[in-house]
Amino acid sequence: MKTTATATKLEGFFNLVEKRRAIRKYKQDNIPDEDIRRMLNAARLAPSANNSQPWTFIVVKDQKTKELLSRPSSQSFIVDANVIMVVLGDPSVSCCPAATWTTRDPIIATDHLVLAATALGYGTCWIATYESRPKEWIEEVKKVLKIPKHLHIIVLVAIGVPDENPPPRPRKNLQEISFSEEYGNSI
Ligand SMILES: Cc1cc2nc3c(=O)[nH]c(=O)nc-3n(C[C@H](O)[C@H](O)[C@H](O)COP(=O)(O)O)c2cc1C
Repeated sequence: MKTTATATKLEGFFNLVEKRRAIRKYKQDNIPDEDIRRMLNAARLAPSANNSQPWTFIVVKDQKTKELLSRPSSQSFIVDANVIMVVLGDPSVSCCPAATWTTRDPIIATDHLVLAATALGYGTCWIATYESRPKEWIEEVKKVLKIPKHLHIIVLVAIGVPDENPPPRPRKNLQEISFSEEYGNSI
């Protein structure tokens, strides 16, 4: 039997998941450092293979650096985000096999961060097309942000106060993506 307080908290969680959208237009309001710390702490608490935590995060607010980060993607909206979070993966601490989990674990932590940002009222957008980015640009970003050579840039997250309220984007229905006992058996 759920108490009213527990039921309200549960509703809060499901509302959060249902209300989150990719936001690509931001107001020019600042995000207080305390809120950024809460987002980072939510990321820090994420699970990881063998608890290896192969992630680090760089909080970018500098306009010139944001322009550099947005350059090859032709996604200029990210320059207007108050913060761009650069998520890094560390193959030297990552688990079994490192090449795979160096990406997976930081992505899990990033989703924690994104949900925390949503809970705090911010809009976010994942920016993740790194494999196809020019090598020279990756080198330049690493140099400007003083990222150690062995770390990988996994994803960027643009974060800001939303200046749009997009409707839900389509999703596959549950029957298409979930089965009972065997692939193909409807739930
Ligand atoms: C791994 C990943 C990479 C993404 N890369 C981009 C991107 O480069 N540019 C962009 O505008 N949106 C990007 N998105 C946002 C998706 O387009 C968006 O999440 C999807 O269309 C569903 O919309 P919703 O988040 O509003 O539900 C990315 C999302 C994820 C999870």
